[in-house]
Amino acid sequence: MVVEVLSSYEAVSDRAFEILATRICTVPGSVLGLATGSTPIGLYQRLAAADLNWSQVKSFNLDEYVGLAPDHPKSYHHFMWTHLFSQVNIPPAHVFIPDADEGGGAFESRIAAAGGIDLQVLGLGTNGHIGFNEPGSRLDSRTRRVALSARTIADNARFFDSVADVPRHALTMGIGTIMQARAILLMACGAGKAAAAAGALEGPVTTDLPASVLQRHAEVHVLLDEAAASQLGSNPPPQ
Ligand code: F6R
Repeated sequence: MVVEVLSSYEAVSDRAFEILATRICTVPGSVLGLATGSTPIGLYQRLAAADLNWSQVKSFNLDEYVGLAPDHPKSYHHFMWTHLFSQVNIPPAHVFIPDADEGGGAFESRIAAAGGIDLQVLGLGTNGHIGFNEPGSRLDSRTRRVALSARTIADNARFFDSVADVPRHALTMGIGTIMQARAILLMACGAGKAAAAAGALEGPVTTDLPASVLQRHAEVHVLLDEAAASQLGSNPPPQ
């Protein structure tokens, strides 16, 4: 695992952009796994502003809320088209976002048909979730419908008018699905992520903190700002 601690959110976004842009330039047919949420917005702004050729890129998103139509302003479909896809030349047929009507098995088949994911971008939940794999998720889980935890519903209420509007369920890639990506880029910023980041990078591998499973992946690059890195070193090594 490579861990880089950078001075700010902007610096994390710059570095993530370098990694993604290099990948797209050197492997034009890259299969990307992408995340939503506040963390990758700076990355997507930079990708949208760059002159990169997305004509052969394929993209699979981590998750989508159940119950929000693709054109709903709070759906992850809408998020991805607004922040990135409408501004680059990716063919719409190369964009794959989980669809509750279609189900997890079909999404897994589409990933397999694309040859698997080359580079998966992840954010980190304050509870250590990756995708919407909440604490307790099986480490070998696949794309499926899940219930969001109370913590995630509260965290994501900031994107909605009220907590009551936050969907209670989502379709998410599983932890096993994520772990099959050939490389992973985990990004986390802000003090609210510090405990989850320390647990994920330095604690035991446990279903209580799903991101800890990334310690078992051979090619993980972690980008943290100083606030998210502020609790690193606080977990004593196992005796
Ligand atoms: C988003 C996703 C989530 C977020 C995580 C962090 O597609 O799967 O795991 O990455 O909740 O969200 P932000 O970046 O909003 O703090």
